[in-house]
Amino acid sequence: MAESMLGLKRTHRCTEVSEANIGQEVTVMGWVQKSRNKGGIIFVDLRDRSGLLQIIFEESDCGEESFVKAEKLRSEFVIAVVGQVEARSGAANTNLKTGTIEVRAKSLRILAESETPPFPIEENSKTKEELRLKYRYLDLRRPDIQKNIMTRSKVAILTRKFLAEEGFLEIETPTLIKSTPEGARDYLVPSRVHPGSFYALPQSPQLFKQLLMCSGYDRYFQLARCYRDEDLRADRQPEFTQIDMELSFVDVEDVLDVNERLLKTLFKDICNVDVELPIQRMTWKEAMNRFGSDKPDMRFGMELQDVSEAVKDCEFVVFKSALENGGSVRGLRVEGQAGMPRKKIDALVEFAKGYGAKGLAYLAVHEDGTYKSSFAKFMTEEQLAALVQAMGAQAGDLLLFAADKNSVVYNVLGALRLELGKQLNLIPENSWKFLWVTEFPLLEYDEEAGRFVAMHHPFTMPMEEDLELLDTNPGAVRAKAYDIVLNGTELGGGSVRIHQGDIQEKMLELLGFTPEKAQEQFGFLLEAFKYGVPPHAGLAYGLDRVVMWMVGADSIRDVIAFPKVKDASCLMCEAPSPVDAKQLEELGVAVQAEENKEEIE
Ligand code: AMO
Ligand code: AMP
Repeated sequence: MAESMLGLKRTHRCTEVSEANIGQEVTVMGWVQKSRNKGGIIFVDLRDRSGLLQIIFEESDCGEESFVKAEKLRSEFVIAVVGQVEARSGAANTNLKTGTIEVRAKSLRILAESETPPFPIEENSKTKEELRLKYRYLDLRRPDIQKNIMTRSKVAILTRKFLAEEGFLEIETPTLIKSTPEGARDYLVPSRVHPGSFYALPQSPQLFKQLLMCSGYDRYFQLARCYRDEDLRADRQPEFTQIDMELSFVDVEDVLDVNERLLKTLFKDICNVDVELPIQRMTWKEAMNRFGSDKPDMRFGMELQDVSEAVKDCEFVVFKSALENGGSVRGLRVEGQAGMPRKKIDALVEFAKGYGAKGLAYLAVHEDGTYKSSFAKFMTEEQLAALVQAMGAQAGDLLLFAADKNSVVYNVLGALRLELGKQLNLIPENSWKFLWVTEFPLLEYDEEAGRFVAMHHPFTMPMEEDLELLDTNPGAVRAKAYDIVLNGTELGGGSVRIHQGDIQEKMLELLGFTPEKAQEQFGFLLEAFKYGVPPHAGLAYGLDRVVMWMVGADSIRDVIAFPKVKDASCLMCEAPSPVDAKQLEELGVAVQAEENKEEIE
């Protein structure tokens, strides 16, 4: 028995009603959170996206018809109430914004009834996420998720306002584009009109925003939907949103400047956090050396220390062979943890192995000056003392060492540092450490492919100082690329782009593109650059990640209205799904049966 709302108009959201309205008549609409019948008097907590409001029904005020309806109310019924605002008759509820008032109902309409929901609609739900995601539309009614979604909306609106005021134009770029398989795997969309041909969904609007610069639009931005078919993690989704921008006639400084002010505005307005400007900067090399990471968490210390020099003459074969093979020996000083039980150290060794270590050497400096160590027997007293000194260790400290090629040592100790930071509670709460990481390497050597790949993308400009190295030592060339990092998370990244044809050619050659292959993949961009391309640069944030930090969410799913789960499926609408044979036929697509697929592999 659903009634119409004809003739009624909502005057207030639930928590817009306040003590200032006492004595006034209001019309409120929303969902029944809870209904309690105390015999002759019915209390209803009414909920909308703003919060809760208490409604009181007594037959003497609302009449028999409404009272009979009120007796039937159950959770998640949608109702409209006209009533008078009063000071709360019972004790005030200090947990509620509307805790000092209530609405005495004069009339009630039931706009929609509800079946019993599969889980209670409440804050900090204990219901399993799978069930919540299956009924996401109900989950989205919960106040904590609503707060996240509303914060996300606020970020989008503030971003638009800020960038518009800075002279940026909001321009949409297509989402059915040409596949350019660099970076992650593309999502493909078959074409019906061109059987056997496919569009790709964009991994980012990169090429289009560069073309917009060629077209003279000078400052562009977009809240762009991006698609990447990659393994999902807590802060990755197959489709996600970037705050994407590109600027012409600028260099690194200009991009960093406008983005620092954007971040300051957003974090102040949304979480009242003062971002200190200028944001600290660190080169990639320094970040790797000190933190073993290109996105260091600056909220705590425990930096990596290179002890290669101190151990270079020792007989410990693990250290020796790492150094002989061009690697290094580096350590972490874990303050006051000399007494860490063996079992816990063993767990750390296993943890390190998970990150590619062959082992983890340890040395505990006891209060009485003696050492306990997995490798002391291979070193002289003097060598041990020199190592302890090189680490700046005090009595009571635990030292952990990794020896390998540099990339492995960074990876292992970088991860171990974060793990120990968590385990030992070294990370202060309510600390917001922003950092620009700059001067990334231009290229990365892909052992598997046996060639260089672009660390950011093939259009990133080398540092002018390093241009000559492109011919002699490409692996050492630094790029005009930058990432913005918050508390150890990469929020965004970008670069100055190559706008000189000869440098672009050289870059593509280094990446193993033949001129034909380059033409085939991004000929339109190379062609466009022949007709007057301005110097340009840009950056993109992961909007989802920005919002995650703002609301303190552990999972990216908590800030996306309809997210996907680990296997990239949507539990609510059950995408992806098989399609009709007719649809496939129209598209000229044949699906291999699962068993045949295995045979072919
Ligand atoms: P990049 O690939 O670094 O740069 O992406 C920019 C930012 O997007 C976010 N991000 C993701 N967020 C959620 N799920 C994902 N799967 C995911 N992948 C990336 C990250 C990342 O920092 N076109 C360039 C930018 C430029 O050069 O201007 C680009 O896409 O927060
Ligand atoms: P082993 O001689 O292999 O028993 O190793 C002696 C100690 O060195 C053990 O504590 C190992 O965990 C450690 N170890 C082995 N490989 C490495 C490595 N690559 N880096 C640091 N420690 C290692």
